[in-house]
This record gives sequence, C-alpha cells and structure tokens, in this order.
Amino acid sequence: MLRKFSLLLTLVAFAAAYDLEANPFIDIPFKPITTSEDRIKSHGYPGESHFVETEDGYVLNMFRIPYSPKLNNAQEQRPVVFIQHGLFSCSDCFLLNGPDNALAYNFADAGYDVWLGNARGNLYSRQNTKMSVNHPYFWKFSWHEIGAYDLPAMIDYVLAETGEKALHYVGHSQGCTTFFVMGSFRPEYNEKIKTAHMLAPPIFMGNVTDGIVVATAPYVGTPGTGASLLENQLFIPQNTFISRLLDTMCSTETIMLEYCKTLFLMWAGPDLGNLNVTLLPQLAETHPAGISSNQGIHFVQSYVSNDFRQYDWGTKKNLEAYGQAEPPSYDLTKISSAVYLYYGLADGSANKEDVLRLPEYLPNMRLLHEIPEPTWGHLDFIFAQQVKEVINDKVLSYSNSYEGKK
Ligand SMILES: *[C@@H]1O[C@H](CO)[C@@H](O)[C@H](O)[C@H]1NC(C)=O
Ligand SMILES: *[C@@H]1O[C@H](CO)[C@@H](O)[C@H](O)[C@H]1NC(C)=O
Repeated sequence: MLRKFSLLLTLVAFAAAYDLEANPFIDIPFKPITTSEDRIKSHGYPGESHFVETEDGYVLNMFRIPYSPKLNNAQEQRPVVFIQHGLFSCSDCFLLNGPDNALAYNFADAGYDVWLGNARGNLYSRQNTKMSVNHPYFWKFSWHEIGAYDLPAMIDYVLAETGEKALHYVGHSQGCTTFFVMGSFRPEYNEKIKTAHMLAPPIFMGNVTDGIVVATAPYVGTPGTGASLLENQLFIPQNTFISRLLDTMCSTETIMLEYCKTLFLMWAGPDLGNLNVTLLPQLAETHPAGISSNQGIHFVQSYVSNDFRQYDWGTKKNLEAYGQAEPPSYDLTKISSAVYLYYGLADGSANKEDVLRLPEYLPNMRLLHEIPEPTWGHLDFIFAQQVKEVINDKVLSYSNSYEGKK
C-alpha cells in the first residue's frame, strides 16, 4: 500500500512541477482529451456545449443531450432535466456508465432534454471574465457561491434556451447541498423547479463518518491557523498533465489498473463497494475535477457545527461579511420545491441520522427513500453496477408522473 501511495505521490509531485501550459511535455503519447460533448457523441447521441457567465464573472460550461436518437424526438416538446454533480466531480460522472445505465442517457431515452451543469472551479468551469485563474481571489468561493450564483445562472440560461418555465433537478451530494443553498438563499428559484431529486444530500453533517472530514475537523473545522493556511486555493490540482498521464496509463497498461484503483480509493474512501470497476479508467481521467479548498473546509465546518449555515470566516470577518459573529444558518423552510430525498445506509457523508433531520424543515417534501441494499455508499448513487434499477428508474418514474407520462 505504502509503495503505491509513494508512486502516486511521486507522479503527482512530478506532474505538479511541470505546468503543461508553460512546459509542453511532448514525449509521452497522450490520448486526446475527451470532453463531455465528445463522450456524448461517442455514445451515439447528439451533444452540445454551452457557456454561461455568472453575475460575478465565472464562465460555466454546460453540456446538453437535446434529444434521443432512439426516439427521434427532436421536433417534439420535451421536458427539461438539469443534473448537477458532487464534490471533486463534473458533468462526466453522469455519462460514464454508458447509454444503458447512465442517468443522463436514461433521461434522454425517456424523452427529456438533458442538461449537465459544471460548478465554478472544476476542469470545465475555470475561467472568469473579471480575473485570471491565478488571481488570489479566483478560488475564494465555497459551495455557497455555487448555490447562490452558479445554479441560478445555469437554470436561467437553460430555461431561456428551451423556452420552458420550469425544469426537473437532480443533484448528487454537493449538487444537493448547492440546491438547498439556492432554495433557501434565492427562494424565488423554487418556482422554476418541477421536482428536485436529492441523491445522498450532505446538509446536516453532525453524524458524518467519512475519514477525511473527521480527520481534518480539528484543524480546519473552526476558523484558525489551519483554515487560514488552506483557504482560497485550488485543492488537489487537476491539470491536463495529471489527467492525461493517469488516463493514458490506466487504459494502456493493465498492470497500471492497480494504481487507478489506488487513486480512486484515495478519493472515494475505504472500499469499492458496488462500484462498476470497468469505468475506473474513465474515472481516473475525469476525477478529481477540481474544487476550491473552501468547499472542503465548509463541509468540515458543517460537521463541526452540526448546522447548515454559511461559511465561517471567524468572528471579525463574520461581522464584516454577515453583520453578526456567527455565520447565518440557511432557512430550509423557504425551500418550497417538491423535494425527493434518497439516502444509503453505508454512506459516510450523507448519514441516515442527518438526512432524517430534514423533513421537519421542508414544507414540500414528497419522498424520503432509504435504499434497501445495506451496502449502498455515497458514490453508488452514480457509479454502482445496479444504479439504473436502484436509482435512475426511480428518479425517472417520479419525474414522469409529474409530466403525466407513464
Ligand atoms: C446526529 O444525529 C442525531 C439524530 O438526528 C442528532 O440529534 C445529532 O445532533 C446529530 N449530531 C451529532 C453530533 O450527534
Ligand atoms: C460499467 O461501465 C462500463 C464502462 O463505462 C459501461 O459500458 C457499462 O455499461 C457499465 N455497467 C453498468 C451495469 O453500469
């Protein structure tokens, strides 16, 4: 194990030393870069790439599967679904299981116009019209800003583009956290949501058992030196060089598959659970997709405070930012969207006890669904072998019944 880690660390350090943009490193025959759009097309579906600018200048790249070639329904009226990824992830995660089993294709084949979001800071959304990615404030955001600015910008764009008044929303993990931020902080957006499916929602986090959160809580869970040292920066560099290197290795050398697994385990936790292991090479290529360290710190703060509230900058800066010493809690009673909650019993990040605290606040909750498989973990909601039957079909059937379809 130690040997694997040291090899991986050496690779990452080596890669970090080489900034690909500044130092074209041409001796390794890299596979060409695959974007979500390429991936959609390679699966035989129409793929589109769209850009939207947020009110604070971040340029977000969304991807779209407008219709299904199996239905040939380009001319028909199609309901819209917007799907938002979790921490360290990106739009690709909803495509990797392929046309038969990935959520995005399942929705397309059911007659939906499918849009995939990308939060600021991930590999697709790393531009700002007002500052460069090297500006010290580029990385000064957490999931608060993703919920308060990115989701509203993307949703408005999608509705304008499709001429629809409302859409279905599906979020995984942080894609739920950001939805809860939007629904309470920008409550006017609730009327643009038909149904909201929350897969493994980390909102209240007092009972989290996830190793990284628990281990780092003493250092970054409350404002202080640890948090200030780490704040406002790119956490775990995802650059073209590292992902090209890993992807090229993972897919050409069987012996290297072991290292892909190691990488995945570092990212995902102690066991592979129900994971579809065939997709490890693509996972290595697309993850971790980049976050600001503040997103991670903000989650650890949720664990320590056992409350769902804004970023804690410490008393002095909180007074400046919020006019009060403690960060304000989000008012969940403002989330008037039809909310569907799904949780797994082996999920260390969105724990059953914490999820069960939500219903009393939510005025329009429609479903509280416990996944029957006791081994169901945090990433199984997108990457499990049984994800179609256990998750996708269920989310689709509730969306369909809203639309009056079978
Ligand atoms: C864990 O969950 C229980 C039950 O909902 C809750 O009362 C408690 O505050 C949570 N957090 C901690 C740290 O125990
Ligand atoms: C597992 O992943 C592979 C590769 O992406 C995909 O082709 C396959 O359909 C997936 N299987 C399931 C059951 O999701």
